Amino acid sequence: MIKDDEQHDAIQEAVLAKCSVQDGGISGTARLVDKEQDPCTIVIFGASGDLTQRKLVPALYRLYSEGGLPDSFLVVGTSRTEMGNDGFRDKMKKAIPLYCDLDRAMWKDFASRLYYHPVDYHEVSAFMSLRDFLEHIEEQNHLMGNRIYNLAIPPSLYKTTIQNLGQSGLSDQKKRKHGWIRVVIEKPFGRDLETAIDLNNTLRKNFDEHQIFRIDHYLARETVQSVLMFRFANSIFEPLWNRNYISNISIIAAESLGVEHRAGYYEEAGVLRDMFQNHMMQLFAMTAMEPPSLFEAERVRDEKVRLFRSLRPFTSVDQGEDVILGQYDGGIIEGTEVPAYRDEPGINPESLTPTFATMKVFVDSWRWQGVPFYLTSGKRMARKLTEIIINFKEVPHSVFRTVLGEHISTNRLIMGIQPDERITLTFQTKNPGARISLRSVTMDFNYLQNYKGPVLDAYEKVLLDVIGGDHMLFWRQDGIELTWAFLTPILEFCETCSDRSDRLFFYKSGTWGPEPAGDIMKSHDHKFQGKTDS
Ligand code: BG6
Repeated sequence: MIKDDEQHDAIQEAVLAKCSVQDGGISGTARLVDKEQDPCTIVIFGASGDLTQRKLVPALYRLYSEGGLPDSFLVVGTSRTEMGNDGFRDKMKKAIPLYCDLDRAMWKDFASRLYYHPVDYHEVSAFMSLRDFLEHIEEQNHLMGNRIYNLAIPPSLYKTTIQNLGQSGLSDQKKRKHGWIRVVIEKPFGRDLETAIDLNNTLRKNFDEHQIFRIDHYLARETVQSVLMFRFANSIFEPLWNRNYISNISIIAAESLGVEHRAGYYEEAGVLRDMFQNHMMQLFAMTAMEPPSLFEAERVRDEKVRLFRSLRPFTSVDQGEDVILGQYDGGIIEGTEVPAYRDEPGINPESLTPTFATMKVFVDSWRWQGVPFYLTSGKRMARKLTEIIINFKEVPHSVFRTVLGEHISTNRLIMGIQPDERITLTFQTKNPGARISLRSVTMDFNYLQNYKGPVLDAYEKVLLDVIGGDHMLFWRQDGIELTWAFLTPILEFCETCSDRSDRLFFYKSGTWGPEPAGDIMKSHDHKFQGKTDS
């Protein structure tokens, strides 16, 4: 449970008011998909890699075992590694049980749909050979030719792979008699505005926008999607969702993990590229966008883009004052000593790459004028925590001032994304007893309470939506460009200013970030002011 104002903590714990969930609308055996799915072939580029084994194939297997895939489907792995169908099947058989249970009978049928064909990403002839291979197995399996190309490859291979998909005719939907072709691409979508535009130009030369699915796995989280339902399916919150009632909004995505084995990538990316341009911007968009006229992919994405367009650009002064960057030092996480970022394997011992950032951003609109949004993300923080915190304004006039003084704690609404998937609302009520005193109480809704249906992991949801052709949870290019356009000046400033090393604040692993981050957020929330969570 999230603790509230210190003076009320003890009381609050004691009187936690639980809201009850009515079963209306929640089916105990909710179906995974409502409409018939098209038969298709899912081609995974990078099939010998980590993402395929850790996420993609386990997600496909789980979907399959829950009846979430079309009756006819094939999964074709491809990568540089020489391997046959059996080798690929064996590899996947070993990988899946690390993430979910493997049922022998189901595996047998699932495995019979797995194929493998090696590809050298730089050779167009290899893609032509893949094209012939795909046509052959599709014909054998009576598939219509719908295809998904999932690029689970290092970003450095995106361009050449996309170009070769084009040159070999694999991307050409128009020339084929039947079916659709879709391409799925993971972040990072470039490393700044220029490279993002360049990557997009390559994509668009070979695919139409409606064929492109740019993944942000945060968007596929149930609780992230639920932010829009919460805002737009209730009449009581939206009237308060503006500058008249909200004092500030904080969005935090804290991780206790460090850089792990991704030194090469992370040294180049840092937290701004790794978390802000994508996940943080999407959480921000869900929280701050205007209601679309219809819950439909293009209208939702239009509203997000409108919001990104109203982000107030940082001036060079703001960049120094309203963006705090940090890097983790050694410390203790869950009782275990962990090294400083600079001591991690593969990291430059003098690295200036930020692993933490907090920034204060404003939206220039009637709804949000003057309301700061504090976006914070970091590695090796006190614990894993993703939350959207809406801090409401103080009451305009305290009628209790003669008995209670001027201060009355403000209302706070927290949308917990992970690990606690819940919504809590804190408000004031009277303490029982003869004395007049207030207490903060919290209404607490657990997202999964009373729900017995299947819960989809983010990759399962992403794959389902690509098969269904639904773009709602994917980035559109204009959104990517606007968010890079907003962040690129900050990146340039942080990476080139003469006092770069003075602007990087170190924080102990296992804390809530560097001390100066607390200054940005001022009285905002005691939890984030550089203190270890208690
Ligand atoms: C990824 C980042 O996109 O998201 C990682 O590259 C980060 O650095 C991860 O750890 C966080 O995702 P999650 O699902 O663990 O919150």
